[in-house]
Amino acid sequence: MEEVLKIEGGHPLAGEVTISGAKNATVALIPAAVLADGPVTIVGIPQIADVDSLSEILKSLDVEVIEVRKDHIVIDPTHMVNRPLVGEAVTKLRASYYFMGALLGKYGHVQMKMPGGCYLGPRPIDLHIKGFEALGASVKFEKACYTIDAPHGLHGAKIFLDIASVGATINIMMASVYAEGRTTIENAAKEPEIIDVATLLNRMGAHIRGAGTNVITIDGVNSLSGCFHEIIPDRIEAGTFVIIAAACATHMVINNIIPQHIEALTSKLQEMGVKMKIDVDKITVEHSDHLKPVDIVTKVYPGFATDLQQPLTALLTQAEGQSKVMETIYSERFKHCFELNSMGANIELINSGALINGPTPLYGCSVQATDLRCGAAMVIAGLMAEGVTEIHNVYHIDRGYSELDEKLRSLGAKVWREFVEEEQE
Ligand code: EPU
Repeated sequence: MEEVLKIEGGHPLAGEVTISGAKNATVALIPAAVLADGPVTIVGIPQIADVDSLSEILKSLDVEVIEVRKDHIVIDPTHMVNRPLVGEAVTKLRASYYFMGALLGKYGHVQMKMPGGCYLGPRPIDLHIKGFEALGASVKFEKACYTIDAPHGLHGAKIFLDIASVGATINIMMASVYAEGRTTIENAAKEPEIIDVATLLNRMGAHIRGAGTNVITIDGVNSLSGCFHEIIPDRIEAGTFVIIAAACATHMVINNIIPQHIEALTSKLQEMGVKMKIDVDKITVEHSDHLKPVDIVTKVYPGFATDLQQPLTALLTQAEGQSKVMETIYSERFKHCFELNSMGANIELINSGALINGPTPLYGCSVQATDLRCGAAMVIAGLMAEGVTEIHNVYHIDRGYSELDEKLRSLGAKVWREFVEEEQE
């Protein structure tokens, strides 16, 4: 039997929703916490399966994880043992690779399996490896397992990233906090999650400057201690709810937002004719008819986030005319378009892009959440569709959206889970 998410579409939503802590910050902050020599308290933890997988990895290293409240954990690495990370949890998410930087930084040695995560086309980690090697580590990859060693310690280096990779920037930052001397990351990624990780590490006693710009310098220190940290709000969850509101709300207030983090989205929604009021930490969306088509190109931050491309595509099926979506981050991130077409959309795939011809009515049917943000697109489409949409592979959604069903139900959506016979391929 398989658990599916069912949505009866067509019900107008109204009310308030509060955004949780950022998934893509959380999944780096948890591994970063092991760099300390005492307990690290993190507040604002989202209720997502990726956090469960990371906690499992921590426990396999004898790191104590105390859940104080549901969004509040204490990670105590005092009695930590650096064991090979070869359990199943490692392959359940991509961010397990942050243990490479953290364990290498702390012990000069790490052994771990290939990380997992959403399939969005090829997702190499060559830049992470190049960074570790520049810091003085040797990297071996045998039998789907990485062994990274720096028996004589790591030393600062100047590292230029060919691509401004979020993962490589964070991993190199974590590996270099204890390295001797100064590390400079050039063409560093500038996403808000990077600032959040640097803030945690600095609270622990690290010396990181420039996070949020494209040059980050890290001056190695000898010790890091426990601290308290509150996670930034999830800009992708925030953007998803703003799109949900534009798609089917009469009036919705989305709280706990840093509006600047989603400006590339809100400016496109305004171009579409979505009525919204942007305050310091909340966005209010009113019902709008006659949405206009728009063109978007995904870019690194502060450009249009690739993670919001899929949810926005679902809304664009209702715009009056042709919209164009181009991907520059993950050229194959278009599986949601096949699923949307099966619900009645008219989307044509082009090289690294999609042409969305709207408006087309959508009809509930059985669809796949092929990855996390495709799942979000299916939820949005399901809320707009006539009839019942049945979303399969719902575990992808549970990896990244905190208490999604509850949040939607509180806004008036008809959303529930059922166990059904597994579909034959
Ligand atoms: N890349 C390389 N080599 C590397 C690293 C990256 O070629 O060593 C390429 C990737 O293949 C991709 C581009 O560089 O084409 C950007 O990748 P990046 O490293 O920035 O992405 P990531 O760290 O793997 C994070 C988020 C993704 C989000 C991307 C882009 C986490 C855990 N994941 O991935 O989030 O799409 O940044 O913003 O932070 C999601 O939340 O649904 C998700 C997939």
